[in-house]
Amino acid sequence: MRILVVHGPNLNLLGTREPETYGRTTLPEIDARLVALGAELGVQVESVQSNHEGVLIETIHAARGQFGAILVNPGGLTHTSVVLRDALLGVGLPFVEVHLSNVHAREPFRRRSMLSDVARGVITGFGPLSYELGLRALVGTVAAS
Ligand code: DQA
Repeated sequence: MRILVVHGPNLNLLGTREPETYGRTTLPEIDARLVALGAELGVQVESVQSNHEGVLIETIHAARGQFGAILVNPGGLTHTSVVLRDALLGVGLPFVEVHLSNVHAREPFRRRSMLSDVARGVITGFGPLSYELGLRALVGTVAAS
């Protein structure tokens, strides 16, 4: 199975962006860990990052029939994007939502997610480990369904 990892806006800045909140690990480092973990789990992992909502929507549309599931960190779009929610529902692929920071321990507006109730599950607050836990959970839940 192929798994698509979708990183939303500003995650390209990881490593230098607010390191007290997001740590020092870069996005290429996270992606490399996911590819290695995917190999252990027997899945092929491919990652996309965009700062443009429309590009993310089109990437998700194109995933239908090509990927079995999606791991997504929507960045700030988590809290606002009806269209991202609709795209994920529209393609019908199972997905897990992840966040590096604990969104529940930050500003109140970060507690609301447009995706969580339609995700298989949500992992938040473990830094880069959130992605690894998310990938394990996604592969596990897809295998079980
Ligand atoms: C984030 C949390 C969001 O609230 C924020 O806008 C991000 C990153 C995280 O991974 O902790 O860009 O999704």
